[in-house]
Amino acid sequence: MLQLDSINQYYGGSHTLWDLSIDVPRASCVCLMGRNGVGKTTTLKCIMGLLPIQSGQIRFNDVLLSKEAAERRAPLKIGYVPQGRDVFPRLTVDENLRIGFAVCERSAARRAYDRVLDIFPVLRQMLKRNGGDLSGGQQQQLAIGRALILDPELLILDEPTEGIQPNIVHEIGEVIARLNSEEGITVLLVEQKLPLARRVADRFCILDKGRAVATGSIDELTDDLVKQYLTV
Ligand SMILES: Nc1ncnc2c1ncn2[C@@H]1O[C@H](COP(=O)(O)OP(=O)(O)O)[C@@H](O)[C@H]1O
Ligand SMILES: [Mg+2]
Repeated sequence: MLQLDSINQYYGGSHTLWDLSIDVPRASCVCLMGRNGVGKTTTLKCIMGLLPIQSGQIRFNDVLLSKEAAERRAPLKIGYVPQGRDVFPRLTVDENLRIGFAVCERSAARRAYDRVLDIFPVLRQMLKRNGGDLSGGQQQQLAIGRALILDPELLILDEPTEGIQPNIVHEIGEVIARLNSEEGITVLLVEQKLPLARRVADRFCILDKGRAVATGSIDELTDDLVKQYLTV
């Protein structure tokens, strides 16, 4: 469904992604892994068009995504939950969710809005609260909810459990697994917590210094790979 084909990305003179190829098959959950600073977030921003790539191609279904402007990518039904959540702190929960209404058809958006409140009941009780007043875990649920408003075929999440209490970590893992296996949403997940990655992902791709160094089905993620590329 999503294919990165030999992409290269530079921050100024600094070569960050090197001939990076990643394949995300339809209905799969692929976990993009690697230590801090290896290029995971940069990769996701290239997919969303928030950073330019200097060579290579990104395809989504039949669309050459890398030729599309950033604002045309989400409406192709790619939901993006950025690292650090980026909830609008001075908008209410309701307003944060409605941001997504701008890019979808009205009745579909209404249905998605109700569905989000079913998936995250805690948000229903907080509709009038400001995003900034929510706990970290609630903000993460809001950020995922906002991405679901456009009824994505592909959901991209950047470290959704970073800095979140353990009980909510589990809940978020369950929601991602359910969206993937029950609703058939394809998932590209950046996640450093190994147990969670093993539970929800069916494939992995490890980055090291901007290159894909190992990839396979999640049961091929060996202790050697973990030691070599993931633990500090
Ligand atoms: N805006 C930026 N300008 C210059 N370098 C950056 C910028 N953002 C990230 N980098 C560098 O690019 C590399 C990859 O960063 P990033 O994609 O955020 O890594 P990860 O998400 O895997 O932790 C790091 O060396 C980081 O310092
Ligand atoms: Mg990152």
